[in-house]
Amino acid sequence: MLTRTTDFDKDMGNPVEPEPTMPWMRNRAVYPGFFDPITNGHVDIILRGLRLFDKIFVAVLKNPKKQALFSTKDRVAMIQEIFAHQPSIEVKAFDGLLVDFVRRQKARIVIRGLRAVSDFEYEFQMALMNRQLDPEIETFYMMPSVHYSFLNSGVVKEVFALGGSVAGLVPEIVEKKLREKLKQGRLSVGKSPQ
Ligand code: PNS
Repeated sequence: MLTRTTDFDKDMGNPVEPEPTMPWMRNRAVYPGFFDPITNGHVDIILRGLRLFDKIFVAVLKNPKKQALFSTKDRVAMIQEIFAHQPSIEVKAFDGLLVDFVRRQKARIVIRGLRAVSDFEYEFQMALMNRQLDPEIETFYMMPSVHYSFLNSGVVKEVFALGGSVAGLVPEIVEKKLREKLKQGRLSVGKSPQ
């Protein structure tokens, strides 16, 4: 007979049954990130998520400590435009703890993409910290298509700033916005790492 508790870790390794969630809570998930800017790797994860969840909240971190190329408003607007025809996607900016945002959306699942072993340590730490903060929230990992497994926002900005092509690596709206930043002299190598 399984004991019902939300605290797995204090149970000294005995498997326990978690608190039940309402079925509609299981169908919604939060996909958080900095998205400066969103890449096709992120889009790939969102589309995979849509095969599993009825509703995905894309949560864009407002982080004054991290230097961003695009404002929070621009990062949100680009993602909204990409998924304009997809009613199951809602894009929201957030600050503070991710687990608090997840609860406010009445969700219990955080989606994260895992590209390579190098992502693991950071993701492991983040997932366990979030579990420590709220044991009812689970992190769900998905691997993006192999075509995007080398991709991140930082590399896109660097390649574009140096005159390389990012066609096929970011949505068209992102390429357009990167071109505008380049024209304004706002995009230079080493300016906004990620
Ligand atoms: O795109 P990123 O940089 O991988 O996203 C990281 C993000 C936004 C998911 C993470 O920094 C985050 O959740 N920040 C909110 C603050 C928080 O909840 N910290 C505790 C968990 S480590």
